[in-house]
Amino acid sequence: MMADGQSASPARGIIEPATLVAIELAARLLRAGDLVGMPTETVYGLAADALNPEAVKKIFAAKGRPADHPVIVHLPSADHLPRWAASIPKDALALARAFWPGPLTLILKREADVPDEVTGGQDTVGVRVPAHSIALALLQVFGSGIAAPSANRFGRISPTTAAHVQEELGERVAMILDGGACPVGIESTIVDFSRDVPEILRPGAITADDIARVIGRRPRVRGEVEQGGGMHAEAGASGDMNAPAAPRVSGALAAHYAPRTPLRLVEPSRLAGDAAELAATGRRVAVLASTMADPQDGRLAWRAAPAQPAAYAHDLYANLRVLDALGVDLILVEALPAGAAWTAIADRLGRAAVGSGAEDDET
Ligand code: TXA
Ligand code: MG
Repeated sequence: MMADGQSASPARGIIEPATLVAIELAARLLRAGDLVGMPTETVYGLAADALNPEAVKKIFAAKGRPADHPVIVHLPSADHLPRWAASIPKDALALARAFWPGPLTLILKREADVPDEVTGGQDTVGVRVPAHSIALALLQVFGSGIAAPSANRFGRISPTTAAHVQEELGERVAMILDGGACPVGIESTIVDFSRDVPEILRPGAITADDIARVIGRRPRVRGEVEQGGGMHAEAGASGDMNAPAAPRVSGALAAHYAPRTPLRLVEPSRLAGDAAELAATGRRVAVLASTMADPQDGRLAWRAAPAQPAAYAHDLYANLRVLDALGVDLILVEALPAGAAWTAIADRLGRAAVGSGAEDDET
């Protein structure tokens, strides 16, 4: 600040410890139409005033994201829902009561004046109340909805620390509130209530079974097809994206959350052997292993991931960033166990494999 109270143009993209003063500054920057890096329990968000179309447009420019992709609106509490949603189905409200604040996004029919920049021009809006004390403090001081996609360049690995946001976006954000490492580590579960039956569009820490326990029926799951009463996953990560009425979800693009280094999933039994074989051909190989022990092969960069799903998710994106930064030719990731607790992680790794190896200008 200068003596006359005018601020000299401050440096942008600085990581600030999330003191009350910093949170108030962040709220002022949002009110002025600027962008802020915001921690949440899932991943860091690229925050803008959701009622300011010009501010929301800056999100798309900063991310390099197509303008017709909708962004999630973060709310201080479920009491704000009527301002954003034209109707709130009973089951959606039950989920909000059960899981908010928490890693659950509800897709609802939008109120008429929610900006098209937020909804991607669709008739729905995605809303959630994050379970992170700093995000909630910022939302309360700001007092309204904050639009925030993950704070990464489009198609890239989501940030789970303030330093990741700085790496991704630099001076494209006015400031970054430092909330430490995100406790969950992967993006929220998205449940669409805008059509005939509730459908999970993106898996997350809250599973289909968690949802079924609250609403008394299992939601449809995008990418799963019903077969003789049982469910199984469709081959390929793109699921039923071309279904006519399905809303667009960029997290549902086959190529997403991707490192620049090619990434391949390998069954545990073949992991060490495949890695050694590739190394023998002169390829530089990094491995992310959750159960297999490091073979102590000096040619391999071996990284241990936690064997428990919650801890694995917590570390996942940071691990991918570390491996990507090694500059190796190939990243091998030990394929995950079956089971509902691994569904969301397997989803992210599958998309990372499809999207990996792309150049910067590719989406
Ligand atoms: O955990 C999260 O959800 C994080 C944190 C920051 O809250 N946010 C996040 O945002 O992952 P983003 O934009 O990276 O992913 C949000 C997804 C996108 O795939 C978007 O297309 C979808 O939500 N989405 C948002 N509004 C939607 C709507 N009205 N209809 C369908 N999909 C929507
Ligand atoms: Mg994202």
